Amino acid sequence: MTDKAQLEILIIDDNKVDREAIRRALKGLGYGERAVIHDADSGRGGLEFIARRNVDCVFLDYRLPDMDGLALLKQLYDPKTDLAKSPIVMLTGQGSEAVMLEALRWGAQDYLLKDNITPAALNIALKKAQELFELKQNRRLAEEQLHHMRKLEAVGQLTSGIAHDFNNLLTVVLGNLHLLKEKVEAKPDKIDPEYVLKKIHTMETVARNGADLIKRLMVFTRQRPLQHQVVNVNDCIRNALEILKRSLGETIEIEMKPAKEPWPVLIDPEEFGNVLINMAVNARDAMPKGGRLTIATQNMAIEASREIKAGNYTLVTVSDTGTGMTPEVAQRIFEPFFTTKPAGEGTGLGLSMAYGFVKQSNGHISVESRENAGTTFRIYLPRAETSPEAKTAPAHGRREKNAG
Ligand SMILES: Nc1ncnc2c1ncn2[C@@H]1O[C@H](COP(=O)(O)OP(=O)(O)OP(=O)(O)O)[C@@H](O)[C@H]1O
Ligand SMILES: [Mg+2]
Repeated sequence: MTDKAQLEILIIDDNKVDREAIRRALKGLGYGERAVIHDADSGRGGLEFIARRNVDCVFLDYRLPDMDGLALLKQLYDPKTDLAKSPIVMLTGQGSEAVMLEALRWGAQDYLLKDNITPAALNIALKKAQELFELKQNRRLAEEQLHHMRKLEAVGQLTSGIAHDFNNLLTVVLGNLHLLKEKVEAKPDKIDPEYVLKKIHTMETVARNGADLIKRLMVFTRQRPLQHQVVNVNDCIRNALEILKRSLGETIEIEMKPAKEPWPVLIDPEEFGNVLINMAVNARDAMPKGGRLTIATQNMAIEASREIKAGNYTLVTVSDTGTGMTPEVAQRIFEPFFTTKPAGEGTGLGLSMAYGFVKQSNGHISVESRENAGTTFRIYLPRAETSPEAKTAPAHGRREKNAG
């Protein structure tokens, strides 16, 4: 347990008598000297307090004048950590087992029945909440480290495969150079420009593939934070479309359905461009006979769910009319190196990079796909608090809760 000199305890309850009873019990347990005990008489007041301070434990009454305790929990819940911002003990009346279970699912560590609050029960609940909270935080850190190690391991395993690919690639380039050199040396005045161009074209393609592979690997293994900026997603999409129009081919129709005024988002625009390009290339590959790629943007207020934190999001939808995927494939597409494409044609890093980008942007990504019925990707990016003019780039891309 972190040994702060003084604990901060918050009681959220609109009933003054109940608040005082808890305060008295805590003082009786000796928390009078070790803790600062604050109180709030409404949900909103409680939320505001928690946003400003690091609270070591919150006692939260289920019945509040402006919102119920669950609604408050949902606002504090972060799906990324599966925790609220602080340890929480929910206080409920008799006969509300369903509420208690829900509270535990939404980030509370424990609950107490209001009728049986004794100092001993209070003390145990407080300690348990703090300990469970910290355990979960630590487990989360360990999981992140493990994830990174796994990633590096996968990269390590790939190295020999990549060395092999690169060797093949260099063989093609060297072979073609050799042929050209022979031709030039043998008959310098009888060179067929078409033949020369064909060889150059082959070498160019192969070298590009190699450069592309290396670039992706470098992006994938880096740990540096992204370069976040406040941007308008429509601008990013239009930039990407400039490149895409030329490279997707004539059989694919591209449609953009932009929101009139999309909410600004705090993202790395270059990385976002890469994500869009990979998705469009995936869509092209899924539409060998042609089809339609649609990129749409939309503002959306989202209620809390287990997958996504409640709030305002700018939603970017990328859909195609291609072959779609089986549920087995759809389940694995965000895994690094997962690909269904023949060797040399796909690294399987495209969507895992998209996933990484979205997570680092505090957003969410989902896929909906059916065989022979096309695929839709949805990228939810949290609304930034500042306007696009103010191009602030915080060091690590994480925003303060109440900024702006
Ligand atoms: N729009 C889509 N339609 C059908 N299948 C898709 C679509 N997008 C992705 N997939 C499937 O997901 C797999 C993983 O995609 P991802 O972009 O991560 O890698 P890749 O395209 O195979 O390789 P790379 O992106 O490195 O060229 C693809 O191999 C394909 O099976
Ligand atoms: Mg791809």
